[in-house]
Amino acid sequence: MTVRVGLIGLGTVGAEAARTLAAHAEMITARAGAPVVVTEVSARSRSKDRGIDISGMTWRDDPSQLAVSDNVDIVVELVGGEDGPALAAVEAALAAGKHVVTANKAMIARHGARLAALAEANGAQLAFEAAVAGGIPILKALKEGLAGNDVERVHGILNGTCNFILTEMLSTGRAFDDVLKEAQDLGYAEADPGFDIDGVDAAQKLAILSGIAFGAAPDIDAVEASGIRDVSALDIMFAKELGYRIRLLGVAAKSPTGVEQRVSACLVPETADLARIDGVTNAVMVDAEPVGQALLVGPGAGGGATASSVLADIIDIAAGRRAYAFGQEAASLGALTATPIADRAGAYYIRLNVIDQPGVIADVAGVLGQHGVSIKSVLQHGRDPNEAVPVVMTTHETTEAVIRDVANALSALEAAVEPPILMKIESF
Ligand SMILES: NC(=O)c1ccc[n+]([C@@H]2O[C@H](COP(=O)([O-])OP(=O)(O)OC[C@H]3O[C@@H](n4cnc5c(N)ncnc54)[C@H](OP(=O)(O)O)[C@@H]3O)[C@@H](O)[C@H]2O)c1
Repeated sequence: MTVRVGLIGLGTVGAEAARTLAAHAEMITARAGAPVVVTEVSARSRSKDRGIDISGMTWRDDPSQLAVSDNVDIVVELVGGEDGPALAAVEAALAAGKHVVTANKAMIARHGARLAALAEANGAQLAFEAAVAGGIPILKALKEGLAGNDVERVHGILNGTCNFILTEMLSTGRAFDDVLKEAQDLGYAEADPGFDIDGVDAAQKLAILSGIAFGAAPDIDAVEASGIRDVSALDIMFAKELGYRIRLLGVAAKSPTGVEQRVSACLVPETADLARIDGVTNAVMVDAEPVGQALLVGPGAGGGATASSVLADIIDIAAGRRAYAFGQEAASLGALTATPIADRAGAYYIRLNVIDQPGVIADVAGVLGQHGVSIKSVLQHGRDPNEAVPVVMTTHETTEAVIRDVANALSALEAAVEPPILMKIESF
């Protein structure tokens, strides 16, 4: 019996999913055990040329009507947005017992557990492999291949736009704004790039990963997120001199008091696997018992990569493979106890712009000493008496709470020109 797909959203991902379903029809039929055919579609503009033939499909102006159509078995939501038409259509579809496939990380990070429960209550499947790390099948890996493992930590590079910007800044020495403009021209970054460069997109993906890894409802509000706006070409060069690369990392890790979830620009040793992930590529590392460490690498975004994950979910459902959205029954998902970021222990990178005058380095070192922070290295290049010069320090292990106090005290120094830039140094 033919499996009928209703496609909501025919943009970058939706059009590519429709094209690939048609182009690989024979292979997909063999793997799904039945032909998979798009019967209905919805988008904003009916007349837009999307490079796909929709003439044989029913057009719906209202996605929520498509969601409950008798002519649809699987609703594929590729519009995006935490609420709005995407959420309305997904809720309507699940309530009507239709299976749902989506790439919508914003919606799943916010409403995932409730939608999973709605799916189960109505005998429907909810799948969202494409919502995290594009073409990397990391959710399936966690839910199935690694199902017998106790996960200690999941971390990685979850935003291709930021990784592209950081690697370009390193290889060309160009400034952040300049490389961001190139990323926008290449179609990597949105016209409003805040979603990517302020860490929001990575935080949503991390919340979903964390939910599956630790058997909990995703909690986007528990993720402490910052981005790469404040990373300068100077930081990239200093980090390189110290033997590190700067990466925007998402980290979800068990701690003695709960689970720590954070997204921030970090220094990673240049010899680490993640330091070698360049450009728009994503990478997710899982530390778990008994497997040890597993690393998945691949394209994190783009129509083809994302459609690849959408098709995998469609084929699973069409083939009758049943899976809980978060790897276990929705009712059994716990609530994560968020570890306060202030408790995070580790080493730090500090860059401070100070007026170059006698005794300033002693003052800076004094502030760290008063807070019990021991300095691992100090870099200062050139002298420019009575002008601002950057001083860079790395510390031995301390805590986030202490380092924030240090930052406040450094900002208050007479010679300080601006608040210091702080970044975590990760040793994994
Ligand atoms: N692009 C990626 O690399 C990528 C990667 C991973 C996940 N995702 C996720 O995939 C989803 C889709 O992303 P995308 O890049 O394909 O977005 P997109 O290119 O902007 O496409 C969005 C589609 O939704 C349609 N749409 C918008 N509002 C609508 C409404 N009210 N009713 C019906 N249709 C509506 C648009 O219609 P028109 O075409 O007529 O304007 C368009 O076809 C998002 O959740 C995104 O986060 C994308």
